[in-house]
Amino acid sequence: MTKILEMYKCNICGNIVEVVVSGNGELVCCGEVMEHLKEHTKDEEMLQEKHIPYVTKTEEGFEIKVGSIPHPMIDEHYIMFIEANSSDKRYIKRKYLFPGEEPQLNLKCDCDEITVREYCNIHGLWTTD
Ligand SMILES: [Fe+2]
Repeated sequence: MTKILEMYKCNICGNIVEVVVSGNGELVCCGEVMEHLKEHTKDEEMLQEKHIPYVTKTEEGFEIKVGSIPHPMIDEHYIMFIEANSSDKRYIKRKYLFPGEEPQLNLKCDCDEITVREYCNIHGLWTTD
């Protein structure tokens, strides 16, 4: 059974999907069950300083930056997207990023709290708390 907003990856073709509405079935791609992507957190020592999203409240919403040390944004290694969810899970904003860009997202929002995830093409899915 899947849950809303879970992400799954096919380790054969690289497809990544996000659950929009949950169901009882398993997600399958290329003939195999897809891997449930678990978010890495700041509690994990591995590479956290370049991957944890930092969120700052602004007058219009939130500013989100990836990493206390800037994450590389080169062809071989970059942040592919940043996703912000309102804490009530009613709104989602995802920004796709490309090599050479800054790994940040400015979010206009009147919500009080958000959760943020980002996906690195090498080191996977990360979140803040
Ligand atoms: Fe990375």
